[in-house]
Amino acid sequence: MSSRNKLDYREVLIPKRLKAIKYILMIASGKGGVGKSLVSATTALILAKNNLNVGLLDLDFHGPSSSVIYGGLKMPSEEEEGLVPPVVEGVKVMSIDQFVEGRPIPVSGREKREIIKELLALTHWGDTDVLVVDMPPETGDVLLTSLSYLRGRRGAILVTTPSKLSLKVVDRLIRLLSETGVEILGIIENMSRLELQDKKVSPFGLEGAKELSSKYNIRFLGSLPIDPEASLYADEGKPEKLIYTRFGLELEKCLKKTVLLD
Ligand SMILES: Nc1ncnc2c1ncn2[C@@H]1O[C@H](COP(=O)(O)OP(=O)(O)O)[C@@H](O)[C@H]1O
Ligand SMILES: [Mg+2]
Repeated sequence: MSSRNKLDYREVLIPKRLKAIKYILMIASGKGGVGKSLVSATTALILAKNNLNVGLLDLDFHGPSSSVIYGGLKMPSEEEEGLVPPVVEGVKVMSIDQFVEGRPIPVSGREKREIIKELLALTHWGDTDVLVVDMPPETGDVLLTSLSYLRGRRGAILVTTPSKLSLKVVDRLIRLLSETGVEILGIIENMSRLELQDKKVSPFGLEGAKELSSKYNIRFLGSLPIDPEASLYADEGKPEKLIYTRFGLELEKCLKKTVLLD
């Protein structure tokens, strides 16, 4: 029998694994460098602080950073029921980083799709209110594969900076998500302004994210400042402090406008 015809048990396992998850929240940006991972990691912490049972799945191949932001992650433990993710600040965290431990991060599309399948088929999340997924930073095949497996009650929050480059990619992402039937909960504009004493500077432009939201009739959830303190705590791996930064508090306001925290 050729490998093409072999039954892939992971295809059967994945829906079973995701059954115990009430909501899959995908955080996507279509590209890297816009703060998607910081938003994902902090969102998971905020939801956990609000007494939800939360998981974080880091599928950001271009820089899986949840292990840094969460202060170094233990390896998942191999139990009879599957791989059980370590828990940090109330969040169950599973990252490509832990999964490929020591091996190079996969680079080809096929390898990436295999890892996603593997991660989803093996991880035992247990009963979970919200699984936050830091989505692959692209609008191609690897993203589509992730969407095809992350089924159930689901929605996406899109992260963009005010720069035209980022907005253009998110524009494409919105059309792609609409075609695949994924509900978009809203758009968050990150790195929208820098506050210097009493002066506010908008280095990447103004209003673009709001305009994009109204173009597609999507909710604009709010904008997050460039916050050196948040960046520092992310680099130092101090998740307990991250949620109380300006960045964290503004993000919580954004989330309160969605079904997740209303
Ligand atoms: N609002 C912000 N203020 C300060 N630093 C930020 C902000 N958003 C992101 N960063 C920092 O910018 C860098 C890129 O963010 P990251 O979340 O890794 O982007 P992405 O996942 O989109 O590639 C990281 O060092 C992150 O801590
Ligand atoms: Mg990232």
